[in-house]
Amino acid sequence: MIKTDFDIARLCKKNHFIGILAVLSIICSSLYGQNLNSKQEQKLHQIPHLKKQGTVSQLIVDDKPFIILGGELGNSSFTSLEYMHPIWPKLKKMNLNTVLAPVYWELLEPEEGKFDFDLYDQLINEARKNNLKLVFLWFGAWKNSMSSHAPAWVKIDQKRFPRVKDNKGKSHEILSPFGEENLKADLKAYEALMKHIKEFDGTENTVIMIQTENEIGMLPTARDYHPLANKKFQENVTVELINYLKKNKKVIVPELSERWAKNGFKESGTWEDIFGKNVHTDEIFMAWHYSKYTNSIIEAGKAIYALPMFVNAALNRTDSLPGSYPSGGPLPHIMDVWKAGGPSIDFLSPDFYNPNFKHWCDLYIRQQNPLFIPEHSLDKTAAAKAVYSIGHYGALGFSPFSIEDINDPENEPLAKIYNIIKQLNPLISAYQGLGKIEGVLLDKETPMNVLKMGNYELTVKHSYTLGYEKDSKNETWDMAGAIIIQTAENEFYVGGSGLVITFKNLIKPDLNVGILKVDEGKFESNKWKVIRHLNGDQTHQGRHVRMMYNDYSILRFELYNYD
Ligand code: DGJ
Repeated sequence: MIKTDFDIARLCKKNHFIGILAVLSIICSSLYGQNLNSKQEQKLHQIPHLKKQGTVSQLIVDDKPFIILGGELGNSSFTSLEYMHPIWPKLKKMNLNTVLAPVYWELLEPEEGKFDFDLYDQLINEARKNNLKLVFLWFGAWKNSMSSHAPAWVKIDQKRFPRVKDNKGKSHEILSPFGEENLKADLKAYEALMKHIKEFDGTENTVIMIQTENEIGMLPTARDYHPLANKKFQENVTVELINYLKKNKKVIVPELSERWAKNGFKESGTWEDIFGKNVHTDEIFMAWHYSKYTNSIIEAGKAIYALPMFVNAALNRTDSLPGSYPSGGPLPHIMDVWKAGGPSIDFLSPDFYNPNFKHWCDLYIRQQNPLFIPEHSLDKTAAAKAVYSIGHYGALGFSPFSIEDINDPENEPLAKIYNIIKQLNPLISAYQGLGKIEGVLLDKETPMNVLKMGNYELTVKHSYTLGYEKDSKNETWDMAGAIIIQTAENEFYVGGSGLVITFKNLIKPDLNVGILKVDEGKFESNKWKVIRHLNGDQTHQGRHVRMMYNDYSILRFELYNYD
């Protein structure tokens, strides 16, 4: 008999249909597991892939939904075993399950056609030993706009590998997306990489996704003025893009629609005929060619080994003009151009080094774009944003940049929040995209979020609003974040820190909502274990559910109604 002693299974059961699905999936994976044991030498996992559940996409790794609790390495760290040696234990202590690590074209193909995979094989082995997955970042033609990671044989042959030119005719160390040889060479190296990953890792699946290029974008002018680019700029806008715009006229993002509208929604003509004579048109033109270029590489790579593949963007300041930031990259105001030019690109991702987290995430989830945050500055807000992005947006994962710079890994808020998400992972995976999960992000400017979950309205405030904690008197407040999961009509789990929740009945507002029970606990091998029953002062005598700012924890609570 199959033993499903998961508390998780019991929890899922309570939610009727969703529960049945979740229980079935657990039973199937148990059966599948038994099957695997009997054929031990065989590894039957599907290749990591994206799968829709309700309103979100889940990343499936080793046949199970996988949330990336990640960290991205600094740009030069993944260049030797020796340098990485002291870093691995830190990453483990931080509770990471995935490392985002560069693969450098210059090291991979030091001589044209001669590939050296030794370093990456050894690093993949190290990741395996540490039970970590890898997302490889292909530092190919572009890294932060520039082409600094192109091999020397590419850099020194400007004739064969043309560079972009600015409007004064000056060349820059940026390979032009209009150079056919640039694409050919980059694509060949990418194909070799994918072929090797397939051979070396196709059964282990240590490498779970690929970021193709890094922060693509044109600088210091909004478009390339190389003669090859100028020629293309004079041509008519490709039918492929026009057809996409026509087909999606009602749903393309307003920032792009407005540009198209200004010239009367023209359906043929040059770039300037259709979008006007300005730097925004230059940027749209570059976005089209960058996305086509990247799509060609991704298509070729997927034909060999179809891991999920994505691109990332350096976010612009909203008031800045194209040319003053890496323009034409996978930015939200031109995301439709990228979607049209890059149908094989699984998603576009934001890199966060600026404020307004919610604003940018809201922009990136348009056009059904799955949210993944491959880079966030390694600051005090990262932990709260990680849990919020997974709770509120159903993000595929989160990953602060230069993760090895952490000094005291165990005591980092990020390590604590990753531990919480790890424990809640089966519940999150079962309920994601089905309207049962929410996230909150609270600070002094936004100290309260109001959530509607089932029959209840939850008013979630920053714990500093209570005034009990000494830091509540500070000018600015530490950011607090949490995930809330509704597992039955009256049953919830909340994981995070720094919040206080009160309740109303949405359907029958005259009824009072009381708290039946609050427990603090943890999931051990998917079983809920109570550590402390909370009541009295800890619930303000039954008036609220709360966790103080530094109390990173998981609470389970049950509500009831009374006249
Ligand atoms: C964003 C880039 O994608 C990273 O590789 C790194 O350069 C950081 N900026 C900042 O150092």
